[in-house]
Amino acid sequence: MQITVVEHPLIKHKLSKMRDINSTSRDFREWLDEIAMLMTYEVTRDLELDEMPVQTPICETTGYKLHNNIVVVPILRAGLGLLSGVLRMIPNAHVGHIGLYRDEKTLEPHEYYCKIPPDKDPITIVVDPMLATGGSSIAAIQMLKDRGVKNIRFMCIIAAPEGVKAMQEAHPDVDIYIGALDEKLNEHCYIVPGLGDAGDRIFGTK
Ligand code: PRP
Ligand code: URA
Repeated sequence: MQITVVEHPLIKHKLSKMRDINSTSRDFREWLDEIAMLMTYEVTRDLELDEMPVQTPICETTGYKLHNNIVVVPILRAGLGLLSGVLRMIPNAHVGHIGLYRDEKTLEPHEYYCKIPPDKDPITIVVDPMLATGGSSIAAIQMLKDRGVKNIRFMCIIAAPEGVKAMQEAHPDVDIYIGALDEKLNEHCYIVPGLGDAGDRIFGTK
């Protein structure tokens, strides 16, 4: 398993604004969208290419196309905030959805939806802004594996060390891409310093 913290000044700059309690939902969504685009660059850096002939106005040359189909799977709800940024970078990607929420008392993930496109041998990128205890992403990836999905990558904006460790133990075959590795979880299993509840901040539900 490879863990990549995507170190980029633009990500640090935009993420600092997102962390600010005074940011509006509108601004929060826009920065999330921009960070998703920047992170997609890194998540797809090693994708395999097939050669193909291209006729330019001058001569024939060798061009390239992606070898694998790409499937993007946002974990509902907050993962939806990353979807359009990823799709702007990979417009031909197909999209699956996994519905999970973290019970506020038990912190256990509860599954309520799963619809995955039937692509053959795709590279699947699971997206969620937050990796806290890891319960949700571990369950989401297990749901995919139970349906035969292989070759999975996970992209999140903020991770806690506890969640990274849990993911490493549960899914050692899944590479993780992180925008910022924060300090720890608090007693309510929120990431510190974090940005609060990502879903609520994206959708203005609190
Ligand atoms: C948030 C977040 C992750 C999960 C992370 O979702 O978007 O899915 O919590 O926490 P974990 O690593 O401890 O599982 P939440 O359950 O709040 O649902 P929402 O996206 O519907 O707001
Ligand atoms: N889910 C969130 O949205 N934020 C956290 O800090 C932890 C879980």
